[in-house]
Amino acid sequence: MKKSVLALAAAALVLSQVAVADEALATKSGCMACHQLTLKVVGPAYKDVATKYAGDAAAEATLIEKVKAGGVGNWGQVPMPPKGGNPAVSDEDVATLVKWILSLAAPAEAAPAAPAK
Ligand code: HEC
Repeated sequence: MKKSVLALAAAALVLSQVAVADEALATKSGCMACHQLTLKVVGPAYKDVATKYAGDAAAEATLIEKVKAGGVGNWGQVPMPPKGGNPAVSDEDVATLVKWILSLAAPAEAAPAAPAK
């Protein structure tokens, strides 16, 4: 019991450090000027993006292209500029950021528990 609690705590710590690193990348890339985690600002809240595409296997590839090219119409009439207007953001960073954003959905929505047999 005590061991599993420790293992959980360690896993949570690792996960939260990954999340912090990717949020720092988002800040550095200028994404957080228009986005926040839980609040709609200019662009949609990242948790809302994750929830909207939860369970959509094609979402990662679609969103990587959308962030690279920019676009409008999925969340309203305000356009997102290509790479948020920051051409210095690398394609690898875009992929990292999209994976991170998609990981933000509430766990219950992202991975529904398997029904008991
Ligand atoms: C100038 C403001 C602005 C910046 C900077 C910005 N975004 Fe956006 N973002 C938006 C807007 C506005 C939308 C909604 C577009 C729409 O309605 O289709 C959006 C939508 C998104 C979506 C959802 C796209 C969809 O089709 O559902 C993702 C993912 C995203 N942004 C990621 C990023 C990332 C990653 C960065 C940093 C590299 C970034 N954004 C920087 C304004 C911005």
